[in-house]
Amino acid sequence: MNLKFIKEYWNNTAKKSNANCLVSPTSRDPYLAKLERNFIISGLKKNYNCLEIGCGDALNTIYYVDKVKSIIATDNSEKLLKIAKNKANINKKNNLDFQNISALDLPESFNNKFNCVISQRCIINLGNWNNQKKTIRKIHKSLKKNGVFILTEGFEDKLKNLNKLRQKFNLNKINVAKYNKFLTTDKFDNYIKKYFIIKKIHNYGSYIILSHLFHPLIVSPSNPKHESKINKISMDFQENNILDKNLLKKYSYNLGYMLIKKNY
Ligand SMILES: C[S@@+](CC[C@H](N)C(=O)[O-])C[C@H]1O[C@@H](n2cnc3c(N)ncnc32)[C@H](O)[C@@H]1O
Repeated sequence: MNLKFIKEYWNNTAKKSNANCLVSPTSRDPYLAKLERNFIISGLKKNYNCLEIGCGDALNTIYYVDKVKSIIATDNSEKLLKIAKNKANINKKNNLDFQNISALDLPESFNNKFNCVISQRCIINLGNWNNQKKTIRKIHKSLKKNGVFILTEGFEDKLKNLNKLRQKFNLNKINVAKYNKFLTTDKFDNYIKKYFIIKKIHNYGSYIILSHLFHPLIVSPSNPKHESKINKISMDFQENNILDKNLLKKYSYNLGYMLIKKNY
């Protein structure tokens, strides 16, 4: 996949950014984004110096920065970074620095610098598995001893499970966006084990099933809307563990990982 095309796509989304709108161009599913955010926050500590890759318009970053000592938030879309900087100024976030850096080119000056690296759907924007592996290695280098890598990303095998189920109810297949390359759990788990200890894998299965199976069936033939009340209730189900938290994990096309740097 062409990295120039991906960059152009994200620069173009910046034009659609609207602070008063629940759905943001970088997080089109606002309730899933909130679940992701809560997962990321659960791993942050007040003494952490953090790096975020693919911060976008800082929709989520401005929440993270209150939970840690500092964040260097990076992205390669200059247009989204401009919005992010404005947002940080309006919200008076002084411990937040934005830098225009591609996740593929994290500089050597970042080596052993951070207690924590955050990626919220950035790695799926790197075009292919080779690039994704390269960034994972760079992140490993940028972490201090016992540093934490928190990511929440798309997984194609889980999406396939969801699509099989949707098909049984005559719902259309959900396709991965053309600018994304989803990960595969087996391949990903095998690779990261070389560099990290897996502390936690978090799934959003109940939210996904309620919002992406139950919801479209209820509103059919109309289209489901990400910002609808059903999705808000689906988020509450997920957040409050109403359903067994592992019951629906095979349908969770987005997974959160908390990883600890292996030192060698
Ligand atoms: C799905 S958005 C997520 C934005 C933000 N993390 C959030 O959750 O709202 C993906 C972000 O990755 C950024 N991105 C894409 N390719 C990148 C690269 N090579 N290096 C850094 N950021 C990149 C995009 O510009 C975009 O801001």
